[in-house]
Amino acid sequence: MEGRFVINGVEKVLSFEPDATLLQVLRDGGFTEVKRGCDTGECGACAVVLNGDLVTSCKVYAASVVGSEILTAKGLGTVQNPHPIQQAFVDAGAIQCGFCTPGMVMATYALLSKNPYPTDDEIKRALDGNKCRCTGYVKIFDAVRLAAERMRDHG
Ligand code: FES
Ligand code: FES
Repeated sequence: MEGRFVINGVEKVLSFEPDATLLQVLRDGGFTEVKRGCDTGECGACAVVLNGDLVTSCKVYAASVVGSEILTAKGLGTVQNPHPIQQAFVDAGAIQCGFCTPGMVMATYALLSKNPYPTDDEIKRALDGNKCRCTGYVKIFDAVRLAAERMRDHG
């Protein structure tokens, strides 16, 4: 089957099997910044923003979200022109294995776009679905606080 999606602001028509997940369709469509970790909704590596809400794309059937707007980490910013959240992750030393980072950045974006003044508990809850096995979450939390501050200061 075929479906039209708006991915990172650009309309795309993609072909996929009726039972394909959004994760499969995105990766097959070249959006490899969306990572496949557990494929069971546990790790958060595949997180994207779908119509304004954070989802784990391995748990969403593509057929059920045809016509939707999808934002991935590359839609937020690029190496040359990073989003303040991406820059905050770099500056706070929170870019770790790199595999989980796109999902964490998207979880942060979903949080800060709805809540510019998150408490530490709210940050913890927002990142609850993103698992990191390489180290602790201290630098990641620092990055979210820094991003919140910068986004408040610069609109
Ligand atoms: S790959 Fe989707 S949550 Fe792990
Ligand atoms: S950032 Fe990927 S395991 Fe820690």
